[in-house]
Amino acid sequence: MMDATRTDDDASVDWHEHAYDLARGIAAYTASPLVEGLARVVARHPEAEIANAFNHKQVACKMWARDRLFESCGGRFGRIWVLGGWYGVLPAMLFEDGRFDIGMIESIDIDPHVAEIAETLNRTAGERFRARTSDMYTLDYAAERPDMVINSSCEHIVDVRGWLDMLPEGTLVLLQSNDYFSEPTHINCVASLEAFEAMAALREVRFSGALPTKNYTRFMLIGSV
Ligand SMILES: C[S@@+](CC[C@H](N)C(=O)[O-])C[C@H]1O[C@@H](n2cnc3c(N)ncnc32)[C@H](O)[C@@H]1O
Repeated sequence: MMDATRTDDDASVDWHEHAYDLARGIAAYTASPLVEGLARVVARHPEAEIANAFNHKQVACKMWARDRLFESCGGRFGRIWVLGGWYGVLPAMLFEDGRFDIGMIESIDIDPHVAEIAETLNRTAGERFRARTSDMYTLDYAAERPDMVINSSCEHIVDVRGWLDMLPEGTLVLLQSNDYFSEPTHINCVASLEAFEAMAALREVRFSGALPTKNYTRFMLIGSV
């Protein structure tokens, strides 16, 4: 029977407690540092939209990125930058994958609220993970020289080619965009893979493909500028 004295706040607290218990249980069962990190985020950052960042479509897109990255570029990297990195889900997935040997991953996002959450998610990576707050248009790519630049948020930035022009020639990149025009925060979607290829105009393309999902298609390019 419904309890008429229960408030929306009570329901929200219950939801977080259940989600925390469930994530901790799954982490214990799977021995997954990533799921352990999700449990920490649920407990410490109830405001974070972690269920959105880790929904099955987001996970599928990032597994796709991880697998094609390994096939096109191998698994050894000194320093990877993930731009528009949000809560750091992709770094957590790369750290957990035994095929990869990565010195350091930095997740860089313009939103000052996400760095602490990304750090919480990736805490088990220790000094191999760092979250930074910066606009990707203001970074000094030539001075810092990451050996792989990942941007799976191309639909969120105004001028993809203008941004790519900031990278030193030969820099390896993995780019994702999509045709999800109806989402208000997507300011620069592309209608097709061909349109994305034309927009990026990479000097060398190692992988180019599309991943259809229920509501939209995600596009990915791996290569160098
Ligand atoms: C919704 S999220 C990520 C979406 C993407 N599908 C993914 O999971 O990779 C997009 C992120 O890009 C960030 N962002 C947008 N413009 C940026 C910029 N100029 N520099 C750095 N981060 C940016 C936003 O703050 C946001 O966290």
